Amino acid sequence: SARDAVRIVEVSPRDGLQNEPRAVSTADKVRLVDLLSQAGFAEIEAASFVSPKRVPQMADGAAVLAGIRRRVGIRYSALAPNLRGFEAARGAGADAVSIFASASEGFSQANIGCSIADSLERFRPVAEAARAAGLPLRGYVSCVTDCPYDGPVAPVAAASVAVSLAELGCAEISLGDTLGRATPETIRAMLAALLAELPATRLAGHFHDTAGRALVNVEASLDLGLRAFDASVAGLGGCPFAPGAAGNVDTLSLHRRLVELGFDTGLDPTALERAAAFARSLRTGSEAAA
Ligand code: HMG
Ligand code: MG
Repeated sequence: SARDAVRIVEVSPRDGLQNEPRAVSTADKVRLVDLLSQAGFAEIEAASFVSPKRVPQMADGAAVLAGIRRRVGIRYSALAPNLRGFEAARGAGADAVSIFASASEGFSQANIGCSIADSLERFRPVAEAARAAGLPLRGYVSCVTDCPYDGPVAPVAAASVAVSLAELGCAEISLGDTLGRATPETIRAMLAALLAELPATRLAGHFHDTAGRALVNVEASLDLGLRAFDASVAGLGGCPFAPGAAGNVDTLSLHRRLVELGFDTGLDPTALERAAAFARSLRTGSEAAA
C-alpha cells in the first residue's frame, strides 16, 4: 500500500552553518548545498540575509546562492527578517523566503532586537513584497515550548504567533524548539493549542536535539498529524542567540526512524551520508576531501 509521505526540509546550510565557530568558506558551503541537492529534498534552506555583524557566518549568502548548481524541482530558500533582507534574498535568486518570530519576548529581543508585536509589524512589508514577487513565504516560531531567557512558554503564546504568521501569508509555519529542551508532553500541549487554530498540513516541526529528544518529539508530532520536519545533516546547527542549544535533529537519523515507522521521505540515504560526511568535516574543522 502507498506509504504516507513525510517531507524533510534540510536546514544545515543555514541553521547548521550559522552557528559554526570556524569560518566555513563560500566554496565549502556551495559544496554542501550541491551534495544535499543530490539527496532528494524538495526544499533546502541555503542562506540567510541578516545583519553580518550579528551573524558573520551567513554574510556570503548571495555568493552561496550564485555558486550552487541548482537542481530542477528543489526550492532553495533563505531567511529574510526585513525588507532589506528580502531584496537581498530575491536579488540572489532565493526561491522562497522565511520570516522568523519568537513565542517568547526574551528570545525575540535577543535574536532580532525587538518585541514580538514589533517583529510582526516588521514582517508585514516582507510578506507583501514576497506576495508581489510571487515568492513562497514560510514562517518560523522559535521557543515554542521553552525559552533560554524566559523559561517555559505557554502553548497559547506559540499558537498566537503562529496564527499571526499565517495571517501574514506564511504557507507553512515551522515550530522551533530552539533550545532542544522540549518533551513529548510539552510538544503535545503546544500542538494541541496550534491545531485548534491551524491545520496540521500548514505546520512543520523544527526540533533541536540538545536533550536527545528530537526524535521522540517528532513521533509525538506525527501522532498529531504533522508531516513536515526540518533537519540538518550530521546534526549541524544551533542559534548564536540560544546559548547551549545543540543542532537540529540529524537528517539521516530522522530519515531512518521515519522509514522504520513506515513513512516515505523520498530521500536517498547514500547521498545523505555523503553530504553528512562532508558536513562533519566542516564541523570538526578537518580538511575537506579534494
Ligand atoms: P536592526 O533592527 O537593524 O538592528 O536589525 P540591529 O542593531 O540588530 O542591526 C543593525 C545593523 O544590521 C545595521 O548595520 C543594519 O544596517 C544592519 P550598521 O548600521 O550597524 O552597520 N542590517 C542588515 N544587514 C544586512 N542584511 C539585513 C540587515 N538588516 C539590518 N537584512 C535584524 C534587525 C533582525 C536584521 C538583526 O537583529 C539581525 O540580523 N539579527 C540576527 C538574527 C538571526 O539571524 N538569528 C539566527 C536565525 S533565527 C534561528 O536560528 C531560529 C530558527 O532556526 C528557528 C528555531 O530554531 O527556533 C529559525
Ligand atoms: Mg533552529
